Parts: sequence; structure tokens; C-alpha cells
Amino acid sequence: MQTIVFLMYTSTFALADLPDYRFPDDFVFGAASASYQIEGAWNEDGKGENIWDRSLHEHPDWVIDKSNGDIACDSYHKYKEDVQLLKNLGVNFYRFSISWSRILPTGKTDQINQAGIDYYNSLINELLANGIEPYATMFHWDLPQPLQDEGGWPERKTADYFIDYARVLFENFGDRVKRWITFNEIIQICEGGYSGGSFAPFIKNPGIGGYECTHTILLAHGKTYRLYDSDFRGKQQGQIGISIDSFWHEPDYLDRETDQQASEIDLEMNFGWFVNPCVKGNYPDVMIERVKKNSISEGYNRSRLPEFSPEEQEMMKGTYDFIGLNHYSSDKVYLAVDGAGDHPSHWVDTGVIRYQDSSWPDSACSWFKVVPWGINKLLVWIKNHYNNPPVFITENGFSDYGQHDDYVRANYYKDYLYEILKAIHEQNCNVIGYTAWSLMDNFEWMSGYTLRFGLHYVDFDDPERPRTRKLSSYVYNNILTTRHVDWDYYPDWPPTQDNTKQIN
Ligand code: BGC
Repeated sequence: MQTIVFLMYTSTFALADLPDYRFPDDFVFGAASASYQIEGAWNEDGKGENIWDRSLHEHPDWVIDKSNGDIACDSYHKYKEDVQLLKNLGVNFYRFSISWSRILPTGKTDQINQAGIDYYNSLINELLANGIEPYATMFHWDLPQPLQDEGGWPERKTADYFIDYARVLFENFGDRVKRWITFNEIIQICEGGYSGGSFAPFIKNPGIGGYECTHTILLAHGKTYRLYDSDFRGKQQGQIGISIDSFWHEPDYLDRETDQQASEIDLEMNFGWFVNPCVKGNYPDVMIERVKKNSISEGYNRSRLPEFSPEEQEMMKGTYDFIGLNHYSSDKVYLAVDGAGDHPSHWVDTGVIRYQDSSWPDSACSWFKVVPWGINKLLVWIKNHYNNPPVFITENGFSDYGQHDDYVRANYYKDYLYEILKAIHEQNCNVIGYTAWSLMDNFEWMSGYTLRFGLHYVDFDDPERPRTRKLSSYVYNNILTTRHVDWDYYPDWPPTQDNTKQIN
């Protein structure tokens, strides 16, 4: 059934006569990965234990195929090969994440692991030697276990430990890393980790844990930005942003006022929740009001949503050089009947019902369907709400079950990138870069190795973890070198030459 759906999804635009928009000269293209998903070497050379190591060693059956990131793509040993993949792909930059526990095994600066510093220095230098800019994410979900043992992100002191860690990163790598992303997807870290319990450290505390965790992380982000301003920006001249994931939430009926309200509330409470404090210094008004109202009606004497003090609001305001956007899919929304669902929870506070239209093409993930126009609408919404800030697409990509001739992924990239071109040329959105998720197949969290997002295929049954190019990698290379979407371009397949090499 899945295969039939895949075969049916051809590019939405391929046959239309569309303007041939070009990416601006300074628009940059890259590919992304994350430490726990690719590095392996989980306990080598002094790396400490993180919350994913601990959780999945203790509960292997929580992941669909009972796998974990102990070896993953083995990039800790194969990073030079990965850099060649990037070079052949022709990208401007590589967005990788740094494993906090590899640098600071206890999470704190009492021990700095020189082997960890050496590893990222080698990766960064190898990238630069091959003409690829290193973009580093400081935190992509792998909190050192000792910090979790002290309460993890809901504890404010974790922000202080993060700032100490950030300083170590600026001091050691800031001479060469010119784009930093403090956090990847706060909602997944906090709602997943401390509210719903679907991601490490798998704590269930709905309606409270996610808000407390987010508050700490936002303060950590803001203070890290200020630390860079005061101690590093002058000499290092880099940029700092944060990556926030969001769907586009389409009103169920476009002309129904309550559905329009649902769309607005959902965007404010699941994207504005994180972006508003960085741009304007505080949570969105609608969120402050709704969480307070629900909290009081549940018997609390104050809101479950923590407050920023006036000084903190000042500190937070404007703590971004770009807004990182991770986007995969969209849904349709309408207002929930008041009071539906279990209290307390962020979903009840949001008060919106979401669903995905059954006519939209599937991916291999249960949570996403292919909706290219959604990225365009989301970019326009961001432009209108935040005064057209620089937006960096820090993740976008497609999941399947693993074929090399991944025409569907190739078409996904064409369609989504064309919608980005439209946002730039027709709606004047300030989009400055694009990142494909992912450079290669990797450990897809609770789905283990059953789903694949890579531009490169990784054979996880082979101890050498060989990587090979997929068809989509040639299509992505064609887009970024020609700087437009060529609807007719597909490489000869199977490739006639060594498919680890560049085609053009
Ligand atoms: C995360 C990645 C993940 C991808 C696909 C993003 O939410 O940042 O780590 O692999 O989505 O699920």
C-alpha cells in the first residue's frame, strides 16, 4: 500500500508553466545531522553518558527495532568520509551538533575531555579544508546524564551549566565556527522529554514539565547570546540563532473565523512560544492568557506558565541573528470544544484539534504528509509576525523505507524548494539559507533504523557502515549548483559512474 502511494506522488508542479525563479547569490545550501543520531562511539575516548545512552540501554524495547545510537553511522571514526560526501554534494555548509558529554563528561567544567575537543577540531578543520563552512548546533537533545540526575532542564541551574558549556565551545571552536545554533527544537526536548514522556529522559509531567523545561532553555539561549555579545562577537564575528520546528496549521475551512483563530492560536502557542521571547522578550499574550485561565480553573493559584521578570524580558529581547526553522509538514486545525482532553496539558491549553488531510501524499512517518505549500504559508506568517526576520531553514526532508532511487524524496526537495523560491520572490520573505535533513540515513529516535531521511544510504547491517549516494543527492546537487529548480532534471539511474563521486 505504502509503495503505491509513493509511486503516485510525483512533483506537484512538474507540468505547470511556472516562473523560473533563482536563488539569490548569497543564499546558502547545506545538509544536517545530529551527534546522537550519527556519531556512535558512545563511550569512547572519555565521552560521558547522556540521557539517550542511559534510557535506551535500560529500555531497549522502547525503540521500534530495539536499536540505539551506540554505533549509529559511526561518524566518530568516519567523519572524513562524511566530509567527502558533503563535498561531492556541493554544499556550502554542514550543520552538525556537538555532543555535550563528549566535551564535558559530567556536563560541568570540572572535567574537559581533550579527546572530544580534538574530535570536533578535526571535523571542523576537515570541513574547512574542503571548502565547507561548519555550522554547529550546541544541543540536539543529548543532555549529559549527571545533569539529568540533578533534575535536568526543568531546573534553572541547568541553564548555568549550559552557559559554561557554550563558553567552552566559543573558546575552542569560535575562531572557525561562524554560525551557531544554541538549541534544536525546544518543543521536542521539553514536551517530548518532560511532559509527554515520549523522548529521553521520558518523564511524564504534562502541563508543567514542558513549560518549566522551556523556560530554562530560553533563558540559557538568551544568556548564551549575551555571552557571545560581551566576550566573543567582537573578535569572532559569527552569528547565533535557535532552531524551532513548526508545521503550518491551515484553518480547516479557510473562510471560517473560528478555524482562522485555531490556526493563529496554534502557531502562537507552538512556535511563538519559543520565538516570541527571542524576538520580543516574552511569551505571546494569547499563551499567557490561556495558560493562566486554565491553571486557575484547575485550582492552581497562579499560572503554570513561568514568568520572565522585566530584566529577563529586556535580556531576552532580540537574542537572534537568524531564526532557524525546521519544517517537514502541515495539518488542518479547528478549535476544540472548551475543556476537552485531560488537564493539565499544553494541548488542552492550546485548545486546537489537528488532523492531516487524507488526500495529501504520505511519507514513511505516521506524523507527516507532503504539503509543499505549507512551508510558503509558514514563511509568510513569520514575516508578518516578526517584521521579516532573517529565516534560515535549518531542517527539511522526507522519510521513506530506504530505496536508492528515491524519486519521491527528490520531488519533495524540488517542490519544497520551489515554494521557498516563491516566498522569496513573490512574498519578499527574508529566507537566507536551506538545510536538507539529512546528510545520510541515521538513528531516527524512537523509529530506530526503520525509517530513512538521508541523501545518502547507510547500510546498517555492515559493520563498516558504507554510505552510497541516493538519486535525491544528485537532484539536490543540481538545484544548488544551477540555483533553480529544474523540473526535468533526474540523473541517469542507476549511475553509470562510481556513485560516491560528484556527477557534474
Ligand atoms: C529532528 C531530527 C529528526 C528529524 C526527523 C527533527 O525533528 O531535529 O533529529 O531526525 O526531525 O524526524
